[in-house]
Amino acid sequence: MIKVNSNYAKMPGNYLFAEVAKRVKQHEAKGPSQKILRLGIGDVTLPLAAACTNALHAATDEMATSSGFRGYAPDQGYDFLIEAIRQNEYAARGIDLDASEIFISDGAKSDTANIQELFSQDAIVSVPDPVYPVYVDSNALSGRAGSYDGERWTNLVYLPCTVDNDFLPDLPEQKVDLIYLCFPNNPTGAVMNREQLKGWVDYAKENNAIILYDAAYRAYITGDDIPRSIYEIEGAKDVAIEFCSFSKTAGFTGVRCSWTVVPKAVLGETETGQEISLNSMWSRRQSTKFNGTAYIVQRAAAAIYTEEGKKQVQDMVGYYMHNAAIIRQAMASLNIPFSGGTDSPYVWFRCPGGMDSWSFFDKLLSEANVVGTPGAGFGPSGEGYFRLTAFGSREVTEEATQRLFELLK
Ligand code: MLT
Repeated sequence: MIKVNSNYAKMPGNYLFAEVAKRVKQHEAKGPSQKILRLGIGDVTLPLAAACTNALHAATDEMATSSGFRGYAPDQGYDFLIEAIRQNEYAARGIDLDASEIFISDGAKSDTANIQELFSQDAIVSVPDPVYPVYVDSNALSGRAGSYDGERWTNLVYLPCTVDNDFLPDLPEQKVDLIYLCFPNNPTGAVMNREQLKGWVDYAKENNAIILYDAAYRAYITGDDIPRSIYEIEGAKDVAIEFCSFSKTAGFTGVRCSWTVVPKAVLGETETGQEISLNSMWSRRQSTKFNGTAYIVQRAAAAIYTEEGKKQVQDMVGYYMHNAAIIRQAMASLNIPFSGGTDSPYVWFRCPGGMDSWSFFDKLLSEANVVGTPGAGFGPSGEGYFRLTAFGSREVTEEATQRLFELLK
């Protein structure tokens, strides 16, 4: 028989959200007495902004003409979208990026999963714990994480984020090479201020480490002292790669469009000690393995930066933040300690009565027909915690929190 990548055989269970979906399907098959309300995976529910659908229609019409038809997109993305991102997301904040440092892609999930290919097999990887499982699983599948001991991967450096450190990881005690950070954080909803993030940039500089910074939720930030981009921090352009997404801002979870910034100053070295730019490596990787995001989708994304697009997206973010406030109020009235929900669409809380995460998941599903995400699925320090998303509809959020209240009061 063909020899396979044995790392797949080492993976414990299913991908987190596949396991959640499986359990919900099994419950659904039993014919529950109430509608199942989903506040599990962070999938948006509001329809696309009108500015985006108008642009999608117009671009589709263009594609139906011989003069407007386009085949393969440029490897790195269309100039009109790269320029809109460069101006609106960076120049407007005083961050100067070159167009060649921005790569359009089909999602922060795929880019955060694929980026590890640029690094050597023996790179020491640190992850906050709990963490978005894609960072861990992608390193495990590539064989960099060692073996799974039933709770942890032996070669990963876990940085616990608990109530004692306000869910913000402490700097690693040992030297690490790759540092995954996500702020506003998925799953805890915690945020880092500029000074705290500066500590990480300084660590990376002192230790020749690279920060892989997932900023997919930055549209939810309200506080002035919280950076929207890691490049607001001095020196970050030498040591950080940033991942951003239109999924959670303009509702592109099904449309798929994102961008990744790989500054030219971020360098690595080959086995033979030759210096190499990570920007050129990522460019090589993407042009070899990825054929670009659809033209019509890039047009829809660029429409987010029109005056009406900006306003519509702001309204969507405001709608979800109102949902977050409803969830926070429910937690407060139940006296359940929680974090998040102010600069983030996720509310993270301790499972009541000392229950473990999956037991609480099963209880909530079977007794209240409400779906959440068990904290243990995000790492060992997530055990005993639970996550609810603010991305549901208002009706679902209100009813689900009411059911939660009735179950736990
Ligand atoms: C989540 O629920 O953590 C996110 O939706 C996952 C994702 O964006 O892939």
